Amino acid sequence: MTNNPRSGDVAPHASFVVVANRLAVERITDDEGDLGWRTSPGGLVTALEPIMKAKEGAWVGWHGSPDEELEPFEHDGIEMIPVRLSEEEFAEFYEGMSNATLWPLYHDSVAFPEYHREWWDAYVSVNQRFAEAAAEVTEEGGTVWVQDYQLQLVPRMLREMRPDLKIGFFLHIPFPPQELFQQLPWRTEILKGLTGADIVGFQVPGGAANFLRLIRDRLGYETKRGEFVRDDGSRGRAAAYPISIDANAFQDLANHPDTVARAEQIREDLDAEIMFLGVDRLDYTKGLRQRIRAFGELFQSGQLDPEKAVFLQVATPSRERVDEYRRLRDDIELLVGRINGDMGQIGRSPINYLHSGYPRQEMAALYRAADVMVVTPLRDGMNLVAKEYVACRTSGDGALVLSEFAGAARELKQAWQVNPYDINGMKQRILDAASATPTEKRRRMRALRRQVFTHDINNWAESFLSDLGVEVESK
Ligand code: ADP
Ligand code: F6P
Repeated sequence: MTNNPRSGDVAPHASFVVVANRLAVERITDDEGDLGWRTSPGGLVTALEPIMKAKEGAWVGWHGSPDEELEPFEHDGIEMIPVRLSEEEFAEFYEGMSNATLWPLYHDSVAFPEYHREWWDAYVSVNQRFAEAAAEVTEEGGTVWVQDYQLQLVPRMLREMRPDLKIGFFLHIPFPPQELFQQLPWRTEILKGLTGADIVGFQVPGGAANFLRLIRDRLGYETKRGEFVRDDGSRGRAAAYPISIDANAFQDLANHPDTVARAEQIREDLDAEIMFLGVDRLDYTKGLRQRIRAFGELFQSGQLDPEKAVFLQVATPSRERVDEYRRLRDDIELLVGRINGDMGQIGRSPINYLHSGYPRQEMAALYRAADVMVVTPLRDGMNLVAKEYVACRTSGDGALVLSEFAGAARELKQAWQVNPYDINGMKQRILDAASATPTEKRRRMRALRRQVFTHDINNWAESFLSDLGVEVESK
């Protein structure tokens, strides 16, 4: 296998390049059985689409199938540059170093991070491949925006290859405190990798502060008011840029007559006076064990009546070959089965558990249908589900229960906030949210909606890019 990310010589031509572990498209099979691509539904793609189109943008990322090499292609006006991952790299770089070392470590070690030298070697060589792909397509003086924990070495690698570029980096997950980060055998390399960026962006100010303290203590860099000075005297910045959602798009989707009808259908099918909802990737950081235990106890004690209340938990399959994720799935299915076995009746289960991904419109219908949204991660960089729920409550009612350990808690202060480790406290807050008066719910929801609509994904992209010195036209 060659280390060259592209076959054929391509002159650098893109003035704005995004580098992310995943490409901005996903594979689909049409009705005739032909393979094609569909734009990924995430907010990042939506936010960057206009600027990508205006600036001849390119998106560098992995296309999702190990061992497959693809040529660059255009999709919906954006150039896609697929980066190949071998089966072994998928196991070592993606499942291993990214998702069994960095993911748990950066999420407060809520699962035990594993350290393997072969995983690190794969991380370095895959990061190098992404950096080379970006260096190859970006024109002189262009901008590269690198995304997330899988690619923390790319900023420095790119800077060494292409000192003419503007480089941004944004970390979508939490950045841990020094006491945890310093477990990492490759801590110095990661810090050096990140400081290759002109701006290192984090979800919350605490992440930026952790990072600045680490580069001061471990790299000996001078830092002042968010700025850092590298060995060669050049400067970069670290700051918080809390990510958000395309709030108007969610609102429009929630108001669509088909969504309204679907939400009514969901309520009819559930046949309950009150509906609680959880929506998460099936990930141990999301606090699912604690949340389901809390609901089990509420049903068991009669504080929630299983004949009148239902808890619908949607869990998207994720990283299914990684051990901790397998264990989590087994635990959750056991817990749900036990609670429903104890408390259910013929044709009626207090917990409705769905292990599947759904189209965006179905998500909007679920948000519209739910009286109380329960978002209780043990640690989360931001948590977009909480913001999506708020955006979809177009009639201004509904209640959000939110973990204080989600980045979103800093902005969504009027949610019923909980410590998910405190099961009794969480049970009480769930009941408080459910039984609040309509006036109280509306008062809180009004403030939440104001926050989400005035800080949407476009504000996020614009504020990061304008700090990086990229001209962005306001929409
Ligand atoms: P994370 O990035 O850790 O998965 P977030 O809450 O920030 O967590 O973002 C999750 C995104 O995935 C949201 O946009 C949400 O709508 C979407 N999502 C979550 N569960 C599902 C599902 N079952 N089907 C479709 N989309 C989902
Ligand atoms: O929030 C972190 C993140 O990596 C997102 O960027 C991504 O959409 C999500 O988790 C799912 O992860 P994966 O790409 O591993 O399926």
